[in-house]
Formats: sequence, structure tokens, C-alpha cells
Amino acid sequence: MESYCILETSSNSIKVGDFTVTTNPETDGYGALTVQDAISCFLHFAQGRQFTNTLEWCCGPGYFGFAALHSKLTKQITFSDISKHAQSVILDSIKVNNLDCKFYLSDNFKNIPKQKFDLIIANPPHFNFTVPAWRDDLQVNEHEPRKMRDLNWDIHRDFFNTVNDYLTQDGKIMLMENITGSTPDTFTDMLEKNNLEITNFANSILHSDFAYYIEIAKNGS
Ligand SMILES: C[S@@+](CC[C@H](N)C(=O)[O-])C[C@H]1O[C@@H](n2cnc3c(N)ncnc32)[C@H](O)[C@@H]1O
Repeated sequence: MESYCILETSSNSIKVGDFTVTTNPETDGYGALTVQDAISCFLHFAQGRQFTNTLEWCCGPGYFGFAALHSKLTKQITFSDISKHAQSVILDSIKVNNLDCKFYLSDNFKNIPKQKFDLIIANPPHFNFTVPAWRDDLQVNEHEPRKMRDLNWDIHRDFFNTVNDYLTQDGKIMLMENITGSTPDTFTDMLEKNNLEITNFANSILHSDFAYYIEIAKNGS
């Protein structure tokens, strides 16, 4: 766990392993809180495999992606998000850490040039409803719909409908989801339609009150 844990915080950056990751309230989607747990689970899913070319979808500040790079879960990381706020912090982090990584400002895969990733990781919007319906204690930037809401599961559905073109035959998708928002079965129809299947599941260890993880792969791979 020491190899990728958050070492210190300041107002606009946190340490994820060796990397200084720029962040702010517009871009944080609870990934600073969950990155240690998430990468620990993704390393468990990987069973010692090192991936070559990973995409962090819905990256925000890119905590999971930088942790994946630091922990050697992957050799190379690419980031994407629909938000210009995310673009701004990621480009800053890439520069500060002197990395050669790409960021795509994109609604799912719409602006990502055709290429193959062998791992896609994400902490996507988790709720098919508006979050203040159940958490009126939160600040506005903590429940902003862009970060939290996936009405009718349109974002997940579009992602699963298009991901095959971007995933190698032996590629994996590893997602953090929320127990209040979904169960693995929520995604079954979307996966089956696209010849994808859940290949692993884990409850969170550090955040079992809200987080769970799924690994997805192409059928029979
Ligand atoms: C729960 S937040 C996670 C942010 C960050 N990865 C973290 O862990 O803190 C969800 C992220 O998904 C992004 N997002 C929402 N809809 C999207 C879409 N259609 N395509 C790409 N990114 C999207 C939001 O901008 C937000 O950064």
C-alpha cells in the first residue's frame, strides 16, 4: 500500500505516490478519498499483470491514473474527461511531473482518436438520480450532476456501446461504482448487448459503506 498512498495535501495538489496531482473542488469526485482503496483492488484484479496502455475515463484530476502509473499497474496512461476543468488540472499535472501523457476532452469516446487500450479504469458518475435527493448535507460542488449523475444510465450505456473499438481483445475494464447507485446486475443488459461480461467483483475494503469494484472483459477472452 505504501507505494501509491497519498503522502500529503495542500490546497490545490495532493501527492499520489511520487506524483504531484493538481486538484480543485470542480474536479474532485471523491477520488482523492478512494484512490488507495481503488488501486489496491485493481492490482488485486490484475493478478500481477502489468498493462501497457491504460485509459483513465472520467478522470477528473486523474488520481486513479497517476496511481496506476506509480504502482506499475500500467506502463503508460492516457486521460479523458468531458470537463474543461479536468483538462486544466490534468495538463498542469502532466507538466509539473514532466510526463509524456495525453488528455482528451471528450464525451466518452466521441473525441478520442481510434486506438486500443489494454486497460480502462474509471470512477464514473454513479447515480441514476439527482444526488441531493438523499444527501442534502453536501456542498454544491460535492453533488454536481456532471460528476455524480448518470440519468437512465445513458453515460454508462454509451460507454459500453463504444468501448469495444478501444479495447484490446484481452483488455480489461475496472470500474469503481457505488452501492447506493447500482449493483453489478444494473449493467448486465448493457454488457451482454456488447459481448462484454463481468469477470471479477470486489467490495471495497476501506469504503465498504459506499464503494464496490467490477472488472469487465470481452466475452471468452
Ligand atoms: C465521480 S467524478 C470522478 C472524478 C475523478 N475521477 C475522481 O475520482 O475524483 C466523474 C467524472 O466523470 C466526468 N464525466 C461525466 N460525464 C462524462 C462523459 N460523458 N464523458 C467523459 N467524462 C464524463 C465528470 O466530468 C467527472 O470528472
